Amino acid sequence: MVFLNGEFLPQKDAKISTLDRGFLFGDGVYEVIPVYNQNIFKLTEHLNRLDGSLRATKIKNPFTGNEYKNILTKLLKNNFAKNQTIYLQITRGVGESRSHNFKNLTPTIYIRVDELKIRNKNELVCGFKAIITKDIRWNNCYIKSTSLLTNVLYVEMAQANLVEEIILEKNGIITEGASSNVFILSKNTIKTPKINGEILAGITREMVIKSAIATNLEVKECDIKTSDLMDADEVWISSSTREVMPISQIGDKTFSSGGEVWQQVYNHFQTLKSE
Ligand code: PDD
Repeated sequence: MVFLNGEFLPQKDAKISTLDRGFLFGDGVYEVIPVYNQNIFKLTEHLNRLDGSLRATKIKNPFTGNEYKNILTKLLKNNFAKNQTIYLQITRGVGESRSHNFKNLTPTIYIRVDELKIRNKNELVCGFKAIITKDIRWNNCYIKSTSLLTNVLYVEMAQANLVEEIILEKNGIITEGASSNVFILSKNTIKTPKINGEILAGITREMVIKSAIATNLEVKECDIKTSDLMDADEVWISSSTREVMPISQIGDKTFSSGGEVWQQVYNHFQTLKSE
């Protein structure tokens, strides 16, 4: 069962107009929200970020926090996996013709739930491969936009290079991953690019910072040069579907992974899931 514009219906019956601006222009925003044991993780934070994306794109937020909660609760009850992932998309709606101009339209809201397969600690400790490439996306990546053509091509690049993630750099400075935020561990300090309009303010990123501080680690939100990343002791990425994941190889360079500091942060992060 999925939710589409006020109705709960089977996925096969969920249909939208070919004049939907999400279909024609990628004119919409989305959220991906993890659910652990029927517990929605940081729902308020995700809904606040959704509201920010909607404001930035001048799409009216169709629901209040409680309305979202009621819809999500109903959808989650109909999906029996232990851990789940919510995909929530709002487009500007259906226009009268294909025109870049838009008037006040009724947004299209689509929500679905899938099983979330998270890797366990044993699978994570060995680390994963990444490569670095140029960040050629637009400058407003703080908006979680459904226009993801560049990101789709990065995923293709990752598959072709047999790596888990593509790490992006702009003018020699690391921005984020193609679908994650980036951390480095350097001389016992954890560093992550500071939030600006050019990267997504990851909810997992926020929680990794919280876990690091709670375990008495020093955290710096600052510029990270590509050379700093390559000289780091460890590299991690974070996202709603990967949690905090060690990177053990970038190109030919290998990094230690799954060490004591990562374990400390990972273990604390697990405690946040049942808060
Ligand atoms: N992506 N940066 C980008 C570009 C992302 O696409 C994501 C997440 C993140 C991490 O954000 P969060 O911790 O809130 O998941 C950072 C999701 C998972 C996706 O598009 O599927």
